[in-house]
Amino acid sequence: MKILSIAGARPNFMKIAPLHRAFQANPSIESKIIHTGQHYDRGMSDIFFQQLELPEPDYNLGVGGGSHTQQTAKIMLEFEKVVELEKPDLVVVVGDVNSTVACTLVSSKMGIRVAHVEAGLRSFDRAMPEEINRLLTDSISDYLFVSEMAGMINLAKEGVASEKTFFVGNVMIDSLVHFREKAKALDVLASIGVAAKDYVLVTMHRPSNVDNAAGLSDITAIIEDLVQHRKVVFPVHPRTEKNLAQFGLLDKLKSLENLVILPPQGYLEFLNLMDNACLVLTDSGGIQEETTYLQVPCLTFRNSTERPVTVELGTNQLLADLNPATVKAKVGEIFAGKAKAGVIPPFWDGKAALRIADILLEKYAS
Ligand code: UD1
Repeated sequence: MKILSIAGARPNFMKIAPLHRAFQANPSIESKIIHTGQHYDRGMSDIFFQQLELPEPDYNLGVGGGSHTQQTAKIMLEFEKVVELEKPDLVVVVGDVNSTVACTLVSSKMGIRVAHVEAGLRSFDRAMPEEINRLLTDSISDYLFVSEMAGMINLAKEGVASEKTFFVGNVMIDSLVHFREKAKALDVLASIGVAAKDYVLVTMHRPSNVDNAAGLSDITAIIEDLVQHRKVVFPVHPRTEKNLAQFGLLDKLKSLENLVILPPQGYLEFLNLMDNACLVLTDSGGIQEETTYLQVPCLTFRNSTERPVTVELGTNQLLADLNPATVKAKVGEIFAGKAKAGVIPPFWDGKAALRIADILLEKYAS
């Protein structure tokens, strides 16, 4: 059974790694990795391959940036050539980025089966590019592997046949479980001058938060307040850095005492930083899940989440906007010891990729 697994952007790499490991462990699977090149900087891409112990990709489509349409179209044109050459039995896509939907469309049009890992998640906010990617990918995939029960319910409501859906758990948590000890052993905190459980970790990259002056000045005001109480560690995404510089806020942030500004971090360094933080502020999808697993309080700057289990069972709370006064009040509660407790959701146990490999082999054999 020849499988091509697609990785394109930073949040894909930690999902592909355990799948490739599970596929490689099985002699009847030939597993190849295709990197679309959606993310291309060393810090956004190469370092993840090294740290996650992934081999060099078999193909790198090198598509780079551009508008969503350009990026998606370029991936489709390049990936079609790979499918023609490789004639896979199955294409595996993960998550909700442009690479996910582009490769799903190509495979489906070429009659190749597609498995979508992390299927069924819905924010119900179609202004998010990822929501469109999720809806399209799920509607034409053949096997839908789901990380939380809400995903199963969403797919059933959309009329997806139950034979196509499988509740298997969370492959990103597979990577976390696999690499946590290695991450813990790194000397990240001392190297940046912070102490365990005594700093706040901040990440922001969503266009709705960082592509406009109002969002960026709110983020700056929130950080200015936070540094009065704790050290703050802020690894800055390239999109956010460009915009902070453009709106003249980067120098202001750089001048703040108690703020450690970092470039995008490697997988292991970032895992270490999450594990040791007393609080995480983010607008990421995956970090909501990772902090839930690590049982670290998380405030997410979005008015919806496609990962509701992180709020229902986990340590995550949504803050509908970046209003600095609301954030200050919420953070104050957490610093006062009133953080929300959480439990680890079902099947987030490090074995999701093994379950997926077993199901795919069974389907292939039948
Ligand atoms: C993409 C995903 C998003 C995911 C995020 C994680 C889509 C629609 N969005 O958003 O779901 O949460 O990745 O990072 O697929 N850039 C670099 N170096 C890189 C990559 C990007 O400098 O290696 C720059 C680009 O030129 C662009 C900006 O960063 O200006 C944003 O990159 P883009 O690929 O548009 O999407 P993300 O915001 O990263």
